Amino acid sequence: MVLDSTAIVTGGGRGIGQAICVRLAQKGADVVIADLDSAEMSETKRLVENEGQRALAVETDVTELESVQDTVDTALDEFDEVGILVNNAGIAGPTDPCEEIAQEAWDATTNVNLRGPFFMCREVIPIMKEQGYGRVVNIASVTGKKPLLNRTPYAATKMGLIGFTRTLALEVGEHDINVNAICPGSVDGPRIRGVFEQQAEATGQTYDTVRTEVENQSPRNELVDREDIANTTAYLCSDEASRITGQDINVSAGKVMY
Ligand SMILES: NC(=O)c1ccc[n+]([C@@H]2O[C@H](COP(=O)([O-])OP(=O)(O)OC[C@H]3O[C@@H](n4cnc5c(N)ncnc54)[C@H](O)[C@@H]3O)[C@@H](O)[C@H]2O)c1
Repeated sequence: MVLDSTAIVTGGGRGIGQAICVRLAQKGADVVIADLDSAEMSETKRLVENEGQRALAVETDVTELESVQDTVDTALDEFDEVGILVNNAGIAGPTDPCEEIAQEAWDATTNVNLRGPFFMCREVIPIMKEQGYGRVVNIASVTGKKPLLNRTPYAATKMGLIGFTRTLALEVGEHDINVNAICPGSVDGPRIRGVFEQQAEATGQTYDTVRTEVENQSPRNELVDREDIANTTAYLCSDEASRITGQDINVSAGKVMY
């Protein structure tokens, strides 16, 4: 069973990544939390240890190959295996019309959202091949599929991550390594509430109007919780999902159906 091995979760210091760390620990995994921010990682570490699993917080910048190599080496030294890799670290990038986006903002977005998963897989796949098993879960977004106004860099990286997922799945399937993507819809939490507040201020609408408009994009009239993404991640790493690979699974309360 892969779930009782070791998982590396990038961006595990907060938000969706933190929920993934906790859920994988509840399913029996030891967890390596790989994030930029050491202060935030210590809370995730505490939550994982509360579940009775071992946790290691390793300061990592997924855009830097050397940093990624150090993190993977540390994980291997400490736990002797890497059964699960969750590429969750991601940034929203700029919200501007395409012609106003600076090269630096484009590069920053692609560096975290695409180069990061590439570097992580480049270092972890050889370990998984040698073990003869592994599960990779890439956290993409429904924005990779359904356009979101003024977010060209983010949309390009998330669609790119789906292409990366499919091709890598093709390369490594014979080694019992599955590679899948999850496409979350808007996840409820402090970040999205801040976005709604900003939109309300900018458009003169109330917070509730803005929120309801977004909720109504779902047939269930709701957002998703970070635990929904964590549950799907744990499922994709379970034995029950052993014949699911190369997929991009929407967890969006039905907001996107393709
Ligand atoms: N929140 C949403 O509504 C939503 C919707 C769809 C997809 N997603 C995706 O889910 C993932 C997690 O989103 P979130 O909302 O939890 O974000 P968040 O901003 O709350 O957390 C992201 C984490 O990634 C870390 N990180 C950023 N750059 C990094 C780097 N270079 N190296 C290592 N770690 C880095 C941050 O420190 C942070 O802890 C992202 O890939 C995001 O695109 C989020």
